[in-house]
Amino acid sequence: MEKPVKILGFVGSLRKDSYNKALMRAAVELTPEDAKIEVFDLEGIPPFNQDLERQTPKLVKDFKAKIRKADAILIASPEYNYSVPGVLKNAIDWASRPYGDNAFEGKPVAIMSASVGSLGGARAQYHLRQSFVFLDMRPLNRPEVMMPFAQDNVDANGNVTNEQTKRLIRELLEALVQWTRKLKAKPQ
Ligand SMILES: Cc1cc2nc3c(=O)[nH]c(=O)nc-3n(C[C@H](O)[C@H](O)[C@H](O)COP(=O)(O)O)c2cc1C
Repeated sequence: MEKPVKILGFVGSLRKDSYNKALMRAAVELTPEDAKIEVFDLEGIPPFNQDLERQTPKLVKDFKAKIRKADAILIASPEYNYSVPGVLKNAIDWASRPYGDNAFEGKPVAIMSASVGSLGGARAQYHLRQSFVFLDMRPLNRPEVMMPFAQDNVDANGNVTNEQTKRLIRELLEALVQWTRKLKAKPQ
């Protein structure tokens, strides 16, 4: 039996009752048998300042070490003003620096998003994909997990109730595991 694929998850919302945290919680519950998800909390990462990028804060050091140890990355994020929330972009910027020490290099990555709007965070997902080019990551294309009208699809306990979304999350994780194994098998 192959070793389980180690997935590091993080969420681009710090909100206690975040719908995107609910997506990540659902992903942990729906993790395939041949994978493990560890969730890293972005709370407390300071604003990035390039003057200080070589004085890496402990939390950022931990974040980068966990990214490096992971076989794959899973991001759940809201869309803020048609784009990526500052909290998430800030964490990504930290983990990509200093130049030449990008922790995301070559990592397979999958995205989920939830929003109260009708597009489910699609625009933020495509902006994230643009950053993946410079980060030299290996994004998974399908399925796309975008949960619109999140307020109607998450219950008071923070559980995703929408069966289609849960099925898509499961499919996303299976595809991410398969994609990660495929990339590992191929000499880069
Ligand atoms: C600063 C800000 C900007 C937002 N911009 C968008 C947007 O562009 N598109 C959208 O669908 N929802 C937008 N929203 C609404 C979010 O979908 C909603 O707040 C959602 O609950 C955030 O995700 P969370 O529950 O994981 O925190 C915005 C919310 C905030 C606070």
